[in-house]
Amino acid sequence: MRKNHARLNCGITMPLIGLGTYSFPNDRNITELAIHNALQIGYRHFDTAKIYGSEPAVGKALNDAIYDGVVDREDIFLTSKLWGSDHHDPVSALKRTLQSLGMEYLDMYLVHWPVKLKPWVNYPVPNEDDFENLDFEGTWAGMEKCLEMGLCRSIGVSNFSSKKIHWLLDFASTPPAVNQVEMHPMWRQEKLRETCGDHKIHVSAYSPLGGPGNAWGSTAVVHDPIIKSIAFKHKATPAQVALQWGLSRGSSMIVKSFNKERMKENMTSFDLKLSEEDIMDIQKLEQMKIMRGEFLVNDTTSPYKTIADLWDDEI
Ligand SMILES: NC(=O)c1ccc[n+]([C@@H]2O[C@H](COP(=O)([O-])OP(=O)(O)OC[C@H]3O[C@@H](n4cnc5c(N)ncnc54)[C@H](OP(=O)(O)O)[C@@H]3O)[C@@H](O)[C@H]2O)c1
Repeated sequence: MRKNHARLNCGITMPLIGLGTYSFPNDRNITELAIHNALQIGYRHFDTAKIYGSEPAVGKALNDAIYDGVVDREDIFLTSKLWGSDHHDPVSALKRTLQSLGMEYLDMYLVHWPVKLKPWVNYPVPNEDDFENLDFEGTWAGMEKCLEMGLCRSIGVSNFSSKKIHWLLDFASTPPAVNQVEMHPMWRQEKLRETCGDHKIHVSAYSPLGGPGNAWGSTAVVHDPIIKSIAFKHKATPAQVALQWGLSRGSSMIVKSFNKERMKENMTSFDLKLSEEDIMDIQKLEQMKIMRGEFLVNDTTSPYKTIADLWDDEI
């Protein structure tokens, strides 16, 4: 297998460190520059989503680099995501995403959340009456159609609990290749990793540092005294410890930095070796879910009346 790549259940490989491209505010020039810098540093895996608004900048920067001969399209792994308002018609949604990106295909198309929204809900925080009943069999059939049509090389899900993975596997003709979820030293996802492992579904970690710069994020991971002491012992940084912990669990890390030095720092987390003792110390950290999904829960139109419903009690 290629170094620092995961092989997915559909046979394709994916670089284990991907660059996240969600940022608020979303500035096109800053995102384009970040992608150019990331390519120079060696990033080949890029994560975007319709709802981030970063697709046009990501696509432009990648296409410029391809045109300039910096990289070949085949060496890039590009992921985007189906927003809830597009569950009605994933094929048309993916065609629009490809148009925004200026690409002919994606490497991975993920269902962003197990939530179906009214077709006009093109904003990240739905209103109370924006939800529809989840017809996930219909959504997944549309995702499978995207794959058959060659619009993407693989399909997967995001923010799925173990229970929802089992439910999806009951009717899927093509199983998801990836489940992209929050995962870091303080939200370790043991049960989900076991479920996904049993079904050869790769777990990809978002917010692997706990999203320290995000409005909803936390510095708890990078400021944790145990993580800091492990970092100090290895002459590494807390971010490198968090990323290497996730890599050592077999997951890929979708980490966002638009800062050149921190991009390099994150990429070199491959070089860090954690001891069994380090892993045991991380294992003992208090668990803390940062992205709880409150914005998808209400007791009127959402199928999820409580946070526990959304995550099937895995919270
Ligand atoms: N599927 C989903 O529902 C979902 C949800 C959330 C996120 N995601 C994806 O996952 C990506 C990453 O998640 P995230 O952005 O929430 O969190 P994250 O990668 O854990 O943290 C990003 C934040 O950490 C800072 N940072 C990066 N490297 C650092 C380092 N070495 N030391 C200290 N701070 C550092 C970044 O600032 P600088 O840019 O200034 O370095 C940024 O503010 C997103 O961009 C998105 O693509 C997916």
